[in-house]
Amino acid sequence: MEEVRRWSAPTRGLHSLMLLMFIAMYVLAELMDWTHGASKGEVVEIHKSIGVLIFLLAFVRLGWNVTHAGPQPIGTPQQAKLAKGVHHLLYLLMILMPITGYVMSQLHGKAVDVFGLWTLPTLIAPNPGLKELSENIHSALGTVILIVVGGHAAMALYHHFMLKDDTLRRMFRG
Ligand code: HEM
Ligand code: HEM
Repeated sequence: MEEVRRWSAPTRGLHSLMLLMFIAMYVLAELMDWTHGASKGEVVEIHKSIGVLIFLLAFVRLGWNVTHAGPQPIGTPQQAKLAKGVHHLLYLLMILMPITGYVMSQLHGKAVDVFGLWTLPTLIAPNPGLKELSENIHSALGTVILIVVGGHAAMALYHHFMLKDDTLRRMFRG
């Protein structure tokens, strides 16, 4: 079988789209602290809506990549294993993070409305006693994602500028 050397256009498109969505999520999270009243409500609603899209797109992306194998990571078998482990962890975080946001909103007794078009079902009763814990979990996971994505991006740049291989180009330029 011929070795796959490049990532497909849908994988590259979804990777860049998700990257932009993650940046938007952190900008919106920061904006929540700078806004009040109705404006804050709007910022939170956009944050929740994009978060739900990230959750759904993670499955689209996973489904596509499972059925359309991408190239193997460049490097020694150990480096390749580490890179793959980090990719799996990133998928887990793309799915877990929105779930913690959803659980938090339900515990607060707040509906999750996706761009005013679709209201997610209420599965958990409001519980003010767990409010702070759920906020702390969402916030801590937000920091974990920053660290993991930071390491992932740093490795991609190391491949590009130090090892001068094709790793970064084949994900961003096709
Ligand atoms: C990948 C997706 C997500 C990321 C990266 C993300 C990230 C964050 C971050 C960094 C914060 C600020 C935490 C802090 O103040 O320390 C935050 C707050 C918040 N997020 Fe998310 N979030 C995501 C998905 C969601 C989803 C799907 C929901 C709801 C359905 C949600 C609801 C909220 C709410 C309500 C807050 C404000 C919490 C508060 O009152 O302090 N998030 N998010
Ligand atoms: C500046 C930010 C980023 C850079 C420079 C970057 C770079 C790359 C590169 C070069 C690859 C291909 C690796 C290879 O060919 O061996 C890759 C793959 C991957 N990246 Fe990123 N990435 C970034 C952000 C993100 C974010 C935010 C996520 C998700 C939270 C993510 C998740 C993944 C996953 C899961 C793969 C494996 C391929 C796939 O399943 O789509 N990356 N990344």
